[in-house]
Amino acid sequence: MCGIIGYVGDRNAVPIIVEGLKKLEYRGYDSAGIAVYGADSFDIVKCKGRLSELEKQLAGHSLASHMGIGHTRWATHGEPSDVNSHPHVGSQNKIVVVHNGIIENYQQLKERLEHRGIEFASQTDSEVIAQLAEYYYNGDLLDTVIHLSTALEGSYACGIMCLDEPDTLIAFRKDNPLIIGVSEHGQFIASDVPAVLTDTDKVYYLDDKEIAMLRKDSVQFFNLDKEPIEKTLETITWSFDSAEKGGYPHFMLKEIMEQPKVVRDTVQSFADDGENARIIEKLDIANFDKVVIAGCGSAYNAGVVAKYVFEQLCRMSVEVELASEFRYKDAIVDEKTLVILISQSGETADTIAALREAKSKGAATLAIVNVVGSTIAKEVDFCLYTIAGPEIAVATTKAFSAQLIVLYLLALELATKRENVTDEVRQSLRDDIAALPDKIAEILEHIGAIQKYASESVGSKSIFFIGRNIDYAIALEGSLKLKEISYIHSEAYAGGELKHGTMALIEEDTLVVTIANCASLYRKIMSNAEQVISRGAKVLLISNNPEAKKSVGEFGDGSSEPDDRLSLISLPEINELFSPSLSIIALQLFSYYVAANKGLDIDKPRNLAKSVTVE
Ligand code: AGP
Repeated sequence: MCGIIGYVGDRNAVPIIVEGLKKLEYRGYDSAGIAVYGADSFDIVKCKGRLSELEKQLAGHSLASHMGIGHTRWATHGEPSDVNSHPHVGSQNKIVVVHNGIIENYQQLKERLEHRGIEFASQTDSEVIAQLAEYYYNGDLLDTVIHLSTALEGSYACGIMCLDEPDTLIAFRKDNPLIIGVSEHGQFIASDVPAVLTDTDKVYYLDDKEIAMLRKDSVQFFNLDKEPIEKTLETITWSFDSAEKGGYPHFMLKEIMEQPKVVRDTVQSFADDGENARIIEKLDIANFDKVVIAGCGSAYNAGVVAKYVFEQLCRMSVEVELASEFRYKDAIVDEKTLVILISQSGETADTIAALREAKSKGAATLAIVNVVGSTIAKEVDFCLYTIAGPEIAVATTKAFSAQLIVLYLLALELATKRENVTDEVRQSLRDDIAALPDKIAEILEHIGAIQKYASESVGSKSIFFIGRNIDYAIALEGSLKLKEISYIHSEAYAGGELKHGTMALIEEDTLVVTIANCASLYRKIMSNAEQVISRGAKVLLISNNPEAKKSVGEFGDGSSEPDDRLSLISLPEINELFSPSLSIIALQLFSYYVAANKGLDIDKPRNLAKSVTVE
């Protein structure tokens, strides 16, 4: 995720763009840059690091112009560096671009342009837009943008300027947001409303495959057939504070809501020409007789889910280790072991240590990381990225969901290479995974029941989470989510374990969240639920099993009336191997609304940090 902004008008664009970038920095802070229209060239200042670094550099320039574009980057293709920073200019210095998104066919386009002698300066996918635009340019920037829109695959929100067109700033998009701000002194483009709110509350929302052509006193919209289109000017009524969170009260809720897109983007990275697909292709699974997964906190929990998926699909034994334990246990790993490290930040000290330990023993290492250019990403043999964008809330949500997707697809590719699954089964499982974004969106559209149940659970002293098989794995994450943001004591157990001790903790009205998606174990977990209900507990059932609705009326006095000790959150149906991706949405929302009802600082829970870089 990156932030883009542009301005054309009566005022100096430079301070306007810098102020706008400050509002967009939450979208990425690997580097920042600005390009303004100059007399006979573009003036470009850009550098690695936060916006404050750019401001320092700008202090040494006397930049001024009526038109410019700016960018704050969250790196995906190409490490954070000065040269990979945006804006990107073509090699003729004629066209300059800022881009938010991923150009999936950039490699092919780049190769074609290189064959024509065009030299690239950066490792980014974005530079191809500027180079291709110069290649297409025929004296009309609007024609060029239409041409670009048919050639580019993937997602993009772009601002573009041409040296031959001193009064024109063009914006175009597909699958990434862009707004157009209209003020008395000039016109804006931006990734998000907060970037323009200082100057105007009047905006247009650009839709996919629409183009906005901005001049100092006009904005025109076109479709890809170059036909003018009418759009409605909206008035923004939000405050700055909430707008920075995209209108949500907390980053955590915003990030929960982003999950359909994050999951879709991560699935896309495994498409035939996707970055992650290319990495997996290089992995020779025939070399390995053992898989070990290591991580901390939620990343560890993702590993526990993966153990069930890998063992089921690949029919090989998988060990899951807490990275903080693995590093000191003299682990039995060697060159026949594949060690998978999972980390959102790529900077967790224990996970880095586990990686180094595994490498020192000769194991092959593969990491699943969200932050491009992080230590783990750099040191590991193979790196698969989650396409989750920057995650700001300390409690991970969207990065965890993206980790699950990478793990499913990794397991599936390894199973295919090991010939454990046929092509038909592989395709059908891929279809199941591809269906997840819509099913997640379905849950997010019906959060009323979860909100209500959460508000009734605020007073709980202790909440237990149970499940069997892969439902147990996701119960671990549900429990961690709840405790870290709501400060309510919580534990997760395999359903069959309760009777071996934990049952002693069940009191009148203790809440036991019961996850029940494994069809073959449904009756077993429901019998565990019945055991706690008969000892006074209340059960919140999270299930996609068609039996669940009937079960709600089966307990207590045996009548068919709903029992107030058993409630149900129904999930959409899905292959049970991938059901954790749906259960976790309900569990995240439940935790979020419990904490929200308690009025806690959800994004920054006490005693915690987003990235734990110490032991
Ligand atoms: C999850 O909500 C936590 N904040 C925490 O458990 C986190 O998953 C853990 O610290 C690992 O972080 P990493 O993924 O950046 O390595």
